[in-house]
Amino acid sequence: MGSASTLAAQARGYAKAAKDLEDSGDNERARQLYLKAAKLYNDAYSMTHDDIDRSTQRDLAEHLFSKAQALKGGAAQYSGGVKDKDNSSGTDESSLSKDDLVLKEIPKIGFSDIGGLENVKEEIRKAIIYPFSHKELYQMYGQKAGEGILLYGPPGCGKTMMAKAAAKECGADFISVKTSSIVSKWVGASEKNIKQAFETARQSKKAIIFFDEIDSVAGRRSESEDYAKRVVNELLAQMDGVDTADDDLLVLAATNEPWAIDSALRRPGRFSKLVFISEPDVDARAAIFSLNMEKRPISEDVDVRSLAKITESYSGADISAICKEAADIPLGEALKGGEARNIEMSDFKSVIEKRKPSILSWYIEANTSIKKTGETDVFSELVREEI
Ligand SMILES: Nc1ncnc2c1ncn2[C@@H]1O[C@H](COP(=O)(O)OP(=O)(O)O)[C@@H](O)[C@H]1O
Ligand SMILES: [Mg+2]
Repeated sequence: MGSASTLAAQARGYAKAAKDLEDSGDNERARQLYLKAAKLYNDAYSMTHDDIDRSTQRDLAEHLFSKAQALKGGAAQYSGGVKDKDNSSGTDESSLSKDDLVLKEIPKIGFSDIGGLENVKEEIRKAIIYPFSHKELYQMYGQKAGEGILLYGPPGCGKTMMAKAAAKECGADFISVKTSSIVSKWVGASEKNIKQAFETARQSKKAIIFFDEIDSVAGRRSESEDYAKRVVNELLAQMDGVDTADDDLLVLAATNEPWAIDSALRRPGRFSKLVFISEPDVDARAAIFSLNMEKRPISEDVDVRSLAKITESYSGADISAICKEAADIPLGEALKGGEARNIEMSDFKSVIEKRKPSILSWYIEANTSIKKTGETDVFSELVREEI
């Protein structure tokens, strides 16, 4: 890769050639050259430090990228963005489509599929379901519904499940923004992505927008790269627009790293409600074991309570995995010609012995990080003296 100015000069050359090809009607080759030019401007962008130059290069890259997109199949499509960093996928990244970015569905998972977390379910009912189902009452008492909610807690303990279930329980469309595409490092694409999520939601009668693993896009602005700052700003702007527009729209987000999130996102009107999704206690673990056993042949000697007792600090995801691995044991035997027997207590125990709980290391990290940011009062559930 050359210097930023060499790259920009090359980009100009390609852009001009692309324009000539377009004028002569050779749309396919024009499209390819526009993409090349866009990519070069984008490379130049990532190497430039001057703010004004950077934003020019970025604008040019985006402009050329949308020209390329418009040439694709005739119709103008989503005018995504351009890649932030050099990347092996070359210039053929024109495949960014609406559907990659925003997913709209009515979830199948409900509260009954989630083991334990009864207090959280009640909190969700108050914060999400009743404001939708008893809108008039809320208005009558001057209670403003619709603050954004941030679900946080250790990984694998049901945050994503809970968000889906909340949408199902109140019959709302569930619009989830795929974090993987939002952090795709496509300059400009992330903001459009967010905007599009809100637009899609406004077309629904009732919707929940869900930003999963929001820490990956909404880190503290002071520490993050440019593009992440713009993402946070766009998110803030969109959220500030929500309640004035009286949309039947709620915004949810989830994170395993609440301490890493820009605190501006937690101001009133934004994600001002924090809901802690804890690791399952002994009753919840028993419930999760039972849920995972429902569709499997279980021997009579299996005692769910005692399995729950020996799995302290295991997450719901750990327990699901334990059940899957335990089922693999008799399955493997049967595949080798043995009798297709039920899953036994000893199968569960041998899997648990080999598997470490995943929650402890998360608490250790949580404690160090929260002490660093000084927000021990905000995330008091995570602060543990013994760690
Ligand atoms: N409370 C729970 N009840 C039932 N299954 C759970 C629970 N918590 C986690 N799981 C299992 O773990 C998986 C991961 O859960 P998920 O909601 O994605 O966790 P998170 O978003 O908190 O990381 C789920 O698909 C489910 O199989
Ligand atoms: Mg999740």
